[in-house]
Amino acid sequence: MKLTVVGGGSTYTPELVDGFARLRDVFPLTELVLTDPATDRLDLIAPLSRRIFARRGHPGTITATTDLDAAVDGADAVLLQLRVGGQAARQQDETWPLECGCVGQETTGAGGLAKALRTVPVVLDIADRVRRASPDAWIIDFTNPVGIVTRALLRAGHRAVGLCNVAIGLQRKFAARLGTDPAGLHLDHVGLNHLTWETAVRLGGPGGEDVLPRLLADHGDEVAADLRLPRALLDRLGVVPSYYLRYYYAHDEVVRDLRTKPSRAAEVADMERRLLALYADPALDEKPALLARRGGAYYSEAAVDLAAALLRGAGSPHQVVNTLNNGTLPFLPDDAVIEVQAAVGPKGAAPLPVAPVDPLLAGLMANVTAYEDLALEAALHGSRTRVFRALLAHPLIAQYAYAEQLTDALIAHNREHLAWA
Ligand code: G6P
Ligand code: MN
Repeated sequence: MKLTVVGGGSTYTPELVDGFARLRDVFPLTELVLTDPATDRLDLIAPLSRRIFARRGHPGTITATTDLDAAVDGADAVLLQLRVGGQAARQQDETWPLECGCVGQETTGAGGLAKALRTVPVVLDIADRVRRASPDAWIIDFTNPVGIVTRALLRAGHRAVGLCNVAIGLQRKFAARLGTDPAGLHLDHVGLNHLTWETAVRLGGPGGEDVLPRLLADHGDEVAADLRLPRALLDRLGVVPSYYLRYYYAHDEVVRDLRTKPSRAAEVADMERRLLALYADPALDEKPALLARRGGAYYSEAAVDLAAALLRGAGSPHQVVNTLNNGTLPFLPDDAVIEVQAAVGPKGAAPLPVAPVDPLLAGLMANVTAYEDLALEAALHGSRTRVFRALLAHPLIAQYAYAEQLTDALIAHNREHLAWA
């Protein structure tokens, strides 16, 4: 099995490599190729990755190259984890929206639209090259904004599945609170990428006993504290939102917060400098503890599980992925990309049926789906008007004066990445 990581120079790669090393029974990787335009990063990360494999006795080979076409040639799966413009572009996305009192975040709101506009054309070009070199390869997309990027890939006919670690993170946290094995805990997870709710927490699998009421009764304060939302709100929702819902349910509070502290991009850039310095140490042969302070915890486990299911029919039979709605949520278009539990195997991902969704959740999903549709139009075809329409459709923006101001700011800050601007 050959797997190629596009964006292999990411500081996250040791997390992924550690996952492939630990879980080699689930996914027997023989060849891992890291590709990235940044040779300085590859020169640190490829040797560290080899040391991690050696320490764990993994027999697979790890190579690194800047040549994308060579890297994806003959790959069984290609994992996309790139960031167009790096943390510097993210820093911008998190900053200029604050000027009009809107949230500055890498995937939510106007910053997320900027990221989509920079990223979609790059990812589509990579996917075309994957298809030319290895037509049967699966593309696993961890590149944000995952919902919009996956929708772009699927619309262009690629064999793609979108991946996020929010669900696996909550599964692990809930299992720890309930004192049970995470593998036996099945979340009824519903929504769009970074706009999801856990509507049930089941023991043993789909259809198992729902222990969400018990989780909220016994551990509601801790769950609420983790999300930085009031306990009373969780009780009234009766479901557990992901922490990305804080940008909606507590938008103005978040904006006040963000205005008083360094951006997450600045924090991450600092962590990345420290991580790269650690990676340069030839004695290091495992992922450093500092990496756990990034948001991607358990990303590797979810990625290995997904690769195992798509390529071997192994791994967990049900996994939370981003895939086509196709009627699963009847209030959304069939071609919307949703994030739900799906049966995953060599034929791809087929969503499990979802119980009727509370209008309180469905309304927001429908609104953000419309935004994502318009965001994809803007990413594919450019133009100031398309950017404005996407921003006006976003529930966190909605007013024309903000949409005007944010359109100008988005274009001004991203001109070098937008072919049409
Ligand atoms: C979570 C999200 C990812 C996102 C990450 C950001 O893992 O699911 O989509 O990229 O957080 O983490 P960071 O450490 O870069 O802030
Ligand atoms: Mn994510």
